[in-house]
Amino acid sequence: MRQGCVGRYPVPPAPVLLVLTVLSFLLSISPVVGWRPWPHQQINATDFEYESSKKYEGSSEFVHLRYHMGPVLTANITVHTIWYGTWQKSQKRIIRGFLSSISTVHSKHPSVAKWWKTVRLYTDQTGANITRTLHLGEDKNDRFYSHGKSLTRLSIQSVIKSAVTATTHPLPINPRSGLYLLLTSDDVYVQDFCGQVCGFHYFTFPSIVGYTLPYAWVGNSAKQCPGICAYPFAVPVYMPGFKPLKSPNGDVGVDGMISVIAHEIAELATNPLVNAWYAGKDPCFPVEIADLCEGIYGTGGGGSYTGQLMDGEDGATYNMNGGRRRFLVQWVWNPVLNYCFGPNALDQ
Ligand SMILES: *[C@@H]1O[C@H](CO)[C@@H](O)[C@H](O)[C@H]1NC(C)=O
Ligand SMILES: *[C@@H]1O[C@H](CO)[C@@H](O)[C@H](O)[C@H]1NC(C)=O
Ligand SMILES: *[C@@H]1O[C@H](CO)[C@@H](O)[C@H](O)[C@H]1NC(C)=O
Repeated sequence: MRQGCVGRYPVPPAPVLLVLTVLSFLLSISPVVGWRPWPHQQINATDFEYESSKKYEGSSEFVHLRYHMGPVLTANITVHTIWYGTWQKSQKRIIRGFLSSISTVHSKHPSVAKWWKTVRLYTDQTGANITRTLHLGEDKNDRFYSHGKSLTRLSIQSVIKSAVTATTHPLPINPRSGLYLLLTSDDVYVQDFCGQVCGFHYFTFPSIVGYTLPYAWVGNSAKQCPGICAYPFAVPVYMPGFKPLKSPNGDVGVDGMISVIAHEIAELATNPLVNAWYAGKDPCFPVEIADLCEGIYGTGGGGSYTGQLMDGEDGATYNMNGGRRRFLVQWVWNPVLNYCFGPNALDQ
């Protein structure tokens, strides 16, 4: 999910604006592929059953994913994390465990590293693939909510600026292979959180931060909307009869964040400056490789149905292994097969 372009470009003259408005309306009625139980798209139980009975996993018919000649992350990625607000050590361990498992090749099958292999199928103009390696970089704790408990899309950039310009232990500035991950605790509201997004990625503006740095924000939804952003480990009230699944690391909010973090990192790698891999004609509202597969975690997935998952002996549900942990991570679009794919696919 990328942030829209509102306010970034000069406003075009009225006739152009009209054409653009009509165009974006026409584009918006094209099929939406990903799924989350957003409050504005309530569906009833009959629909759920229907959706679960057909093979879905994204439909290639309408998807025209294209390369727009921009850079992708081919060099080793270093993830610098900003922990905004109140984070427990146990929560940090789950998230770090996931990030480091992306490059851990010896995890049990189906593995997070194999999930990343689909991301690696994307290349730049020179034919170089997305990197295999993602390192954990430096951490910055913003324990005292430097910019308050309610952040806008723009103030997020100010939080990043504070982290890279701090007088003690600033985060390193690495525009080429650094990836800045801002994680907000469950008591922080972020613009459009829960209503439209669970996370997004973009790049910082030199006018605000001083550099163009690819970044992603993901929020802990535990107190605000677990039924949306931590689905299926929590279920919204308007889906009666649906039981939440047991989360694999014992923290509904954080286990739900993992898939959103994975989503944003996959898209940052393939579209860091929003001019590389995406579908759709409007670069302000591109549909990226994880948007296409949101809500799909296994074979047969689509709509509210997650697809075939695995159940641990402890009753927890997951679809991949990473290091010693288990995670539930959405699939991403495979450009060779032209459908959503993951390491736990049954038909491979
Ligand atoms: C639920 O779906 C069925 C079948 O599509 C439809 O007839 C019914 O009106 C729907 N109910 C609501 C509350 O939307
Ligand atoms: C990238 O990471 C790999 C694996 O850790 C390492 O062997 C290699 O030296 C790194 N390359 C650079 C340019 O840092
Ligand atoms: C690099 O991308 C190409 C094109 O998708 C693919 O054929 C190749 O297998 C990829 N290489 C790696 C190492 O993933």
